[in-house]
Amino acid sequence: MTTPSQPIWLHVCDVNAIPRLGTRVLNHASGNIALFRTESDNVFALRDKCPHKGGALSQGIVHGEKVTCPLHAWNIDLTTGEACAPDVGCAQRFPVRVDAGEVYLSIDETVSTSAAETVAA
Ligand code: FES
Repeated sequence: MTTPSQPIWLHVCDVNAIPRLGTRVLNHASGNIALFRTESDNVFALRDKCPHKGGALSQGIVHGEKVTCPLHAWNIDLTTGEACAPDVGCAQRFPVRVDAGEVYLSIDETVSTSAAETVAA
């Protein structure tokens, strides 16, 4: 019998370190990861790379549970990473947990966590 692998939760920051309707970027060895905080204090994480032509989603505008890419205004659903119709594409999504005001990110074991470092966007 095999045991399902447990997620690895990486502590990122206090939720208040992410501006409401704003972002914070996690510089990571695998590539930047953007953390988004909605007006209702939900936090989502996506690869900081638009599925269209690679724009930095962390520089976009957060509204509802979407972010609008700063380059060509695609809307990306923060809950799934999927582009909103009629556009098609998907940014890599990472599970996020907020516990007692602290933000934790689940990064696949294939993505090294050793070089994680946070910086303000
Ligand atoms: S690169 Fe994001 S909409 Fe074009």
